[in-house]
Amino acid sequence: MKEKLTLDEKIRLVTGSDWWRTVAVEEKGLSSVFMSDGPHGLRVQIDSGDHLGLNKSINTVCYPAESIISSSFNKELLFKYGEVIGKEALSLSVDMLLGPGVNIKRNPKCGRNFEYYAEDPVVSGKLGSEFIKGLQSVGVSACVKHFVCNNTENKRNYSDSRVNERTLREVYLKPFEICVKEAHPDALMCSYNLVNGTYMSENKRLLTDILKKEWRYSGIVVSDWGAVKSRSVSLRSGLDLEMPYSECSYNDVKKALEDGSLRESDLDKAVERMISFIKKSEEKRSKRTLYSFSRDEAREYSREVVSESVVLLKNKENFFPLKREEKLLIVGEVAKKPHYQGGGSAHIDNDSVLSFCDILKERNINFDYKEGYILEKNTTEDVDPSSYDKVLFVVGNKKSDESEGFDRDTLSLPECVNTLLENTLKKCKSSGLLIFTGGVVTLPFEKNCNGVMYAGLPGEYGCEGVVDVVMGDVSPSGKLTETWIKKEEDATTYLSCISNEKTVEYNEGVFVGYKYYESKNIKPLFEFGHGLSYTKFKYSNAKIEKENDNFKITFKIKNIGKMDGKETAFLFVTYPLTSEPRSYKSLLDFTKVSLKTGEEKEVMFLIKKEDLTVYNEDGKEYIPFGEYTFTLSSSLSSSEAVLKGEIDGKRDEVTLFTLVDDIWNDKERRQILEEIVIKKLLVAFRMNEIPEDKKKIILSLPLYSLCGLAKGVISEEDKKLLLERLNEV
Ligand code: GLC
Repeated sequence: MKEKLTLDEKIRLVTGSDWWRTVAVEEKGLSSVFMSDGPHGLRVQIDSGDHLGLNKSINTVCYPAESIISSSFNKELLFKYGEVIGKEALSLSVDMLLGPGVNIKRNPKCGRNFEYYAEDPVVSGKLGSEFIKGLQSVGVSACVKHFVCNNTENKRNYSDSRVNERTLREVYLKPFEICVKEAHPDALMCSYNLVNGTYMSENKRLLTDILKKEWRYSGIVVSDWGAVKSRSVSLRSGLDLEMPYSECSYNDVKKALEDGSLRESDLDKAVERMISFIKKSEEKRSKRTLYSFSRDEAREYSREVVSESVVLLKNKENFFPLKREEKLLIVGEVAKKPHYQGGGSAHIDNDSVLSFCDILKERNINFDYKEGYILEKNTTEDVDPSSYDKVLFVVGNKKSDESEGFDRDTLSLPECVNTLLENTLKKCKSSGLLIFTGGVVTLPFEKNCNGVMYAGLPGEYGCEGVVDVVMGDVSPSGKLTETWIKKEEDATTYLSCISNEKTVEYNEGVFVGYKYYESKNIKPLFEFGHGLSYTKFKYSNAKIEKENDNFKITFKIKNIGKMDGKETAFLFVTYPLTSEPRSYKSLLDFTKVSLKTGEEKEVMFLIKKEDLTVYNEDGKEYIPFGEYTFTLSSSLSSSEAVLKGEIDGKRDEVTLFTLVDDIWNDKERRQILEEIVIKKLLVAFRMNEIPEDKKKIILSLPLYSLCGLAKGVISEEDKKLLLERLNEV
């Protein structure tokens, strides 16, 4: 097919025709692909285009944000999200939706964290994969973004993420690797920033060597909007489509072809991928008639997913659920003017939004209301809560606080909100917080309230699901996908963000989020995976079986409480000691189970050997040899069952500089060492065994020292045989 295209047509094909379309070459049977933001709804612009949510877009549904629906930990609901938003995309003739975002929530202040799933790569990858599968199942292409290490918004167009190879692999590439290998997105978007000194749009090693060659990615790589510096250099690096249109790229490519700095074969590689992408879009258009979009379905979905995502963080004296017969006071502007979405390219122009108070009224729930604060004016009013059984403070950030393009200045709630809480909480008989923010906020007054519930950015219909949980119609089953720290200075990234922001040093390495706080024993306010319920669950019968090199872990969960509910079970792994530092726990997988009261179900995790892959400091992958510990739990620090399993993985190579201690716990290697060396030394020293009080110092020796302890006892042949045998196992 590419042979039929003229050089001019090929050059035009690899850059957008306007803000949202690829170039059509109708005479050669290539139509234009129409794309639109974003992960939380269709930001379709008919005439004026922009990539920041500046200009109007048509009225579409504003769905709940990634950062709250991820707390559902419900893979099926993420698939359904893709289906529902995909049907709306089809109704607007959108061929590709620019989402999901799977960047890691490395820095709790990152302005776009509301557009991302989690601080953990497995959660981000698995949930992103489900969204992609659901979206593409109805015939709309997904574009997973922003590849890679786009973890701050400040100066994102030239911020250089300095990250070591192992961390890049185990943390930041991992969600994209999971999405590419499990969901096969038709497109992937490269980010604006640099990684280790190279712009992502020109990063051949990441775009071509790793993404396309190692991971065998067959889709297209599209630039973030305006992220291309030189089109010819980006073509050489593996960037297939520049978006949006560009006034200068055509000449840049033409000139590079003429002066030989760009080979036509590199252009052809992009053209080939573009042609198959366009053809795939054309085929999918035939599916459009199979689906119809219904706003009612979108509304029902929003209610369902939010009711499964709301996180009950604290519930002293059963503050939640509120009861109709109680004398209730609702305080807070956000209860009537919801903070329900973030700013930037994910912003949706929608007609209306259902507020928390709207829903209470709709359901004839009696309450009094006080505004309490005005965000835009940063003012607070006096509230007398003393005559109420319960007071629910509905709080949130300002719309302008959480957006693309800049990071948050603070993790605090707005000043007027904190002032209201400081003045009023202590006067309440019983009080609770209902929090509408795109991410972590610090809660200095949390100890003064009985209940805390996190509702995220629920979209225009999500408050229906919030009220379902607040009023007890649905038992909360959300769990945190990001650690809520007590104060900003506790953040893993606190030190690396005090800089001119041109370079961001990922000094914490793999210790991101809970892996840092748990390893450093920094007690957060609420930990990753935390979430309470109105019912109770009991785990039992946990078993582990090894099938080839895979592990099958089965267990039972029973709902022993008084209410139907859902439970997310986590499976964490503790690796055998490796030559690289590692957190005690890493999440391997999670699953969500729906259980009526009294119901019990058997649940299974299947862990494939490759799921245990780690990397050494040079970025070389391997699966550590030794004993693994698997912890089944309902949150990070709880433990329902601890199971063990051996993996005959890759052992570290042994040399004469290897310490005795490094092989002493490896049964097979220890036997070889005893047979070839230790036995002879014991004879030479007329001993039966190594004295207990000498053992530690013996284990601290490198092998060459051990062999030299008795002159002339261990020969060169012995040493040669020893190394051969030790490296054979
Ligand atoms: C923006 C965003 C990206 C969005 C694109 C188009 O700058 O970074 O997420 O899809 O441009 O609006």
